[in-house]
Amino acid sequence: MDFTGTRAEIQQRMAATRDLAARRMAVLHELSPRRGERILEIGCGAGLLLREIGLSVGAHGLAAGVDISPDQIAAAERECDGVPGVRAAVGSIAGLEWPDAVFDAAVAEHVLEYLDDPRAALFELRRVMKAGARLVVLATNWDADFWHGPEPELTNPVVAAWRAEVPWPNLPAQLGPMLAAAGFSATRQVPVPVVNSGLGEDTVALWMSRLLAVAAEESGAQARPASWLAALDRADAAGEFFYSSVPILTTAVAV
Ligand SMILES: C[S@@+](CC[C@H](N)C(=O)[O-])C[C@H]1O[C@@H](n2cnc3c(N)ncnc32)[C@H](O)[C@@H]1O
Repeated sequence: MDFTGTRAEIQQRMAATRDLAARRMAVLHELSPRRGERILEIGCGAGLLLREIGLSVGAHGLAAGVDISPDQIAAAERECDGVPGVRAAVGSIAGLEWPDAVFDAAVAEHVLEYLDDPRAALFELRRVMKAGARLVVLATNWDADFWHGPEPELTNPVVAAWRAEVPWPNLPAQLGPMLAAAGFSATRQVPVPVVNSGLGEDTVALWMSRLLAVAAEESGAQARPASWLAALDRADAAGEFFYSSVPILTTAVAV
């Protein structure tokens, strides 16, 4: 999936919400970056997590961020300006510039589900990780996302358009065997749920609805995203809006 232009802007607004700040803290806690470590983040987006990793590993460590979108890397460079040890670069997980076995840990936050070939990405991650290195993956089972407010006739086609665009819409459910095949063990999974009963600027629901609307608009499907967004606003004004999502945090160790 392409995260440039409008999509990058929406994704960056979403990443800056209180909801995603809390989610990022859960990822950071699981990753547990230590002073002097070399840590790789793929699909680093606007660099909010990368900055935290950089602050944790310090000047003698390395927080390497890679993203395929130049718009996202430009934002990441702004975000991480002045944090020693951070290196953000345009690149693809399909072929990293790094030699074998250099990283102590790696992280992918909402990235693998958007790739055509997450299996190949896991092999490439394993290649650049040391034996014993920690991997943290955050991804959503999109079939468990729940929107309440608008009539289902408006919601369902928009959600279907998004689901059709995400190559691996229920990746967490499939990740265990993929990790084992790529050379990881000790897989553990925990939920990082979010619930929004309103559509404030600080909610993931607001920005996710905008992203879904863009995807539905561009899909040319039967969906009516503008009407859906208006119905969400009406439901919110009436106090009848609800959204829940259950991203899954998966951790594993390179063997
Ligand atoms: C949903 S965004 C998540 C960004 C960030 N990790 C966060 O949680 O805020 C997915 C990111 O993965 C990047 N991406 C997609 N395909 C990629 C690839 N093949 N290699 C590296 N990054 C990729 C996109 O450009 C985008 O920034």
